[in-house]
Amino acid sequence: MSTHNVWTHKGTFLLAAVGSAVGLGNLWRFPYLTGENGGGAFILIYALTIFAVGIPILIAEIMLGRNSRRSPIMGMRFLTRTHKTSRGWETIGWLGAASAFIILSFYSVIAGWALHYTGLMLTGSLDGADAETVAASFDALLASPPLLTLYHSLFIGASALIVGLGIHRGIENGLRVLMPALFVILMVVLVYSAAIGDLAAAATFLFTFNVADLSLEGWLQAMGQSFFTLSLGMGAIMAYGAYMSSDASLTRTAFAIAVVDTAVAMIAGLAIFALVFGAGLDPGEGPGLMFVTLPLAFAEMPAGALLGGIFFILVLGAAISSSISLIEPVAAFLVERFDLERPQAVSAMVIASWALGLLTVFSFNLMAEETLFHTLFGRSAFGLLELLTNIFMPLGGMLIALFAGWALTHGEVMKEMRTNETWFRVWRFLVRFIAPAAVAFVFLRTIPQVEGYLLPAIGAVVIVGAFAAGRTFLAERQGS
Ligand code: PHE
Repeated sequence: MSTHNVWTHKGTFLLAAVGSAVGLGNLWRFPYLTGENGGGAFILIYALTIFAVGIPILIAEIMLGRNSRRSPIMGMRFLTRTHKTSRGWETIGWLGAASAFIILSFYSVIAGWALHYTGLMLTGSLDGADAETVAASFDALLASPPLLTLYHSLFIGASALIVGLGIHRGIENGLRVLMPALFVILMVVLVYSAAIGDLAAAATFLFTFNVADLSLEGWLQAMGQSFFTLSLGMGAIMAYGAYMSSDASLTRTAFAIAVVDTAVAMIAGLAIFALVFGAGLDPGEGPGLMFVTLPLAFAEMPAGALLGGIFFILVLGAAISSSISLIEPVAAFLVERFDLERPQAVSAMVIASWALGLLTVFSFNLMAEETLFHTLFGRSAFGLLELLTNIFMPLGGMLIALFAGWALTHGEVMKEMRTNETWFRVWRFLVRFIAPAAVAFVFLRTIPQVEGYLLPAIGAVVIVGAFAAGRTFLAERQGS
């Protein structure tokens, strides 16, 4: 059964998709990756990938959702039937559901840290603290399973509540309040950091492009980040697309999502690095940039506690508007497939993901040392979950690009894109060839053993495989 749910307004899809895209990926992951990879060059590759690979796949993913008007798994089942392709393409839906479970499980734990820091900031606990004190407070948080579990539970519970209320009463109403507030806060933080910090140094760091500075690993990380930040390849955008009004322009909306998402990342980067450089701190801190370096910068600044508190509220809001988009595709599937009531479906998804999240919680304390887990997988549980999403998201994106590029007919695509023949051709070339090839390389990054000559070799195999898959489609369609 199709859900036949549609967003209340033509523009609601854009709101929801921006809510999904803008999150910890922009505010936490993007700045620290840029810092670690030396600034401008990383951003150049990231932006190029967003436009050459991200936008075409974004269009493809919305298209599959709006065309099928079902949750990702049921939607792909429907599309394989109507397009007489192998049922294997349902993998797109299943991979997406698996990714959603996994991402939600650790996303919620990290968003929980932001909850802790909102409290620390607003109570002035870190006022005037020195580097050691700030670092020690982060370590103390990570060392406490009960505290981490509490924050994780609060965050995931709040997300579940919103989705449980339904797409209109919960998601739409929530986003309509949240998103404008987030943009106002982002502006306040930018103005503050421009006034107090060193905006010029931040701009130089971010926009001095020297591609020679970038390692191969940096290239690949930049591509991976562009997937994560656009919420691509795991069904979130497909699920939201299923509710998108047929009147709204798919192409224009996809551009708007990518532009807003990129702009938020840049603004957040400018603001964060202005504060970091203003305080004379190191931009290459890694994942601790937001939770150690930035609180330290705030600790030394006038009204830093208040602004820091506001900043972490921004982080929380952005995170929750993303986490609801991780719950929706799986919950919608459970409703469609098993006729569950929405609150039951949401509970089932969230409780399972919450339990998986405990692995991430324990990765920082009880299971931080060498355990059986490390012996078996060579990394922490959190590391393994991250690795899995780094594989699943690009793989899902590649399959989405291939399916939309080869299985959908010219007429179907034109009906969705409503564009001219030239743009259609550009899009189709990108999803048929360029995006899958580029993703093949992102994918390789996640296979740590792959080095040297193996990299191009496996890349070639994947590309040839993609062509073969495409030809099979054509053959099947013409034969039927
Ligand atoms: N795009 C979100 C962010 O940048 C993360 C996310 C990934 C959300 C996949 C939904 C799906 O934080």
